[in-house]
Amino acid sequence: MTAPRAGEDAGALLRIAVAAATEAGRLLAAWRGDERPEVVQTKSSPTDIVTEMDRRSEALITSRIRAYRPADTVLGEEGGQTSGDPAGDGDAGHPGRVRWIVDPLDGTVNYLYGLRDWAVSIAAEVDGTVVAGVVEVPRPGETYTAVTGQGAWLHRGEAKLALHCSSGVPLDQALVGTGFGYDPGRRRVQGEVVAALLPRVRDIRRGGSAAVDLCSVAAGRLDAFYERGLNYWDFAAGGLIAREAGALVGGLAGRAESTSMAVAAGPGLYQQLDAFLAKLNPERDGPRSQEREA
Ligand code: IPD
Ligand code: CA
Ligand code: CA
Repeated sequence: MTAPRAGEDAGALLRIAVAAATEAGRLLAAWRGDERPEVVQTKSSPTDIVTEMDRRSEALITSRIRAYRPADTVLGEEGGQTSGDPAGDGDAGHPGRVRWIVDPLDGTVNYLYGLRDWAVSIAAEVDGTVVAGVVEVPRPGETYTAVTGQGAWLHRGEAKLALHCSSGVPLDQALVGTGFGYDPGRRRVQGEVVAALLPRVRDIRRGGSAAVDLCSVAAGRLDAFYERGLNYWDFAAGGLIAREAGALVGGLAGRAESTSMAVAAGPGLYQQLDAFLAKLNPERDGPRSQEREA
């Protein structure tokens, strides 16, 4: 584990992230679930939805971060990247050292259907490296946090528990989480990969929120997680939390985790899963459009 970078207090960045995530989690949880929030837009495919609540959550988070840190850059799933305004004179475009990576609602489909695994995910980067992250999971009342070099923690009410990923679990005994992208061609390959893996592991889970999945690896609720095609905001905070809980987080064959592939598991299991997945050539996509499938 490396120490937080000099010049920025990662603990202070975490406190801002936690405050914003808590407030956004309350906003999202206040929707009672007796009627579904309206789907206001689809993105990469007809199943890739954004609701009014995704947007309201991101607007709230951005305004809270800006109130404390006007010079910082914010990268949000819904609003894209916006530069800070350090002088407060409306002249943005002087990027500071800190960038916030925000998924205002990870697990939107779960949220829409009234399932409980959805989260607010906020990470703080200093000079391009994530140093602090929070994943707020309102339905079970759980807040996962990490600062580089200071371990990973689960806060539930007044309790604060240190997190440790599982260790010494062989692949054939492992409970493995994964997820699927929104593009039908990508999903076809993801289906092939998971079909090959399923007979070789204890079981597979598809939770519906990559941020929660990574926290589940941190907490030992999953032994491993992998997913092709995540966005940075899906894994920035959860990746740090899993790593700080002792997991290896990366891509395949020694590469870093990326939007192509992200894997998290305890050290021995990581190597086994890496070797198994690599043989399946999982970083490919099938034909993209439904027209080509017809
Ligand atoms: C999605 C969730 C899901 C994963 C998808 C993500 P969203 O994020 O994390 O578990 O399988 O790849 O896009 O769209 O709910 O923010
Ligand atoms: Ca997401
Ligand atoms: Ca989202």
